[in-house]
Amino acid sequence: MDAPYRLPVPSSSTGLIDKFGRQVTYLRLSITDRCDFRCHYCMAEEMSFLPRAEILTLEECLRVAGCFVGLGVNKIRVTGGEPLVRQNVLWLLERLAALPGMQELVLTTNGSQLERLAAGLRDAGVKRLNISLDTLHAERFRQITRIGNLAQVLRGIDAALTAGFERVKINTVLLRGINDDELIDLVQFAIDHAIDIAFIEQMPLGEIGHDRQDWFSGEEAMNRLRQRFTLLPSTDTTGGPARYWRMPETTSRIGFISPHTHNFCDTCNRVRVTARGELYPCLGDNGAVPLMPVLRQQSTDDALLRSAIVDALGIKARGHDFNLQIDRPRVVRFMSMTGG
Ligand code: 5AD
Ligand code: SF4
Repeated sequence: MDAPYRLPVPSSSTGLIDKFGRQVTYLRLSITDRCDFRCHYCMAEEMSFLPRAEILTLEECLRVAGCFVGLGVNKIRVTGGEPLVRQNVLWLLERLAALPGMQELVLTTNGSQLERLAAGLRDAGVKRLNISLDTLHAERFRQITRIGNLAQVLRGIDAALTAGFERVKINTVLLRGINDDELIDLVQFAIDHAIDIAFIEQMPLGEIGHDRQDWFSGEEAMNRLRQRFTLLPSTDTTGGPARYWRMPETTSRIGFISPHTHNFCDTCNRVRVTARGELYPCLGDNGAVPLMPVLRQQSTDDALLRSAIVDALGIKARGHDFNLQIDRPRVVRFMSMTGG
């Protein structure tokens, strides 16, 4: 790693307030745009990934996260791409877990590297894992992910269970004609392993050219599952787009993530930082604030970085014409100053 890193002093400010006046306590931090799978709904077959110099170093990820935690964030989800293909990821995770004020470090993964890394993740302080699993058929798995190996992921899930995370959750993207005949089997898999499962409606992303015919709603999934399982409403919420249900005599919960059919903004407590250091105060909005120029201009002092983060959220909080304002936040000035 590069220069030694000073832990930020927790800020005495009132924290990060979003445009609804709600406090942001949850950061989703992407540490790479790369992945060892090429799921149809996520990536094109031929992908060009960002050059190394254009993504945050692990030191920079830690600085950004440290600022957020200093400003009141207490939960961080590390994501990708596939976060576990990033070299030295455990170095970062250990330090994130140890930030003063951090309560929950969690991670989303495709499971491909878990056999190798699950125990290390647990030791590093990761409390919970979300593991993507869309099918229990090897051939289908290969079709959906283009290059993934189901057996390897299932061994990864076993390794995660052995490592003893507080919770493990399967994420399943609903795909009509591809895995909609497996919904019951996937829930049974979750029950048998005493883990949770969340069904996710497919979201159209990028220019991948989605086949709308394979879209399958959470509502239809729930109706199918109700024919086999008793679903009891649960008050559990993550402040996100998921609604959870319990099943009698099991420890498993079923979640339905339906960004199409629910407006969850009023309970939103989260922001997102991309691998290239762009702060997205709201996923549903294209407005982003680039943190990289501030990071690289001020390589040791976090004051500017902190105020860039606060400003980004403050602009969002005050803005009526949100799009117009967020596209021109103060931090863009730093970008032009550094020629970035
Ligand atoms: N729609 C819905 N879910 C998606 N994921 C990736 N791309 C999409 C999409 N277009 C899911 C992955 C994983 C989670 C992190 O996001 O399958 O479970
Ligand atoms: Fe995208 Fe996740 Fe599939 Fe990788 S495993 S291609 S990040 S959906």
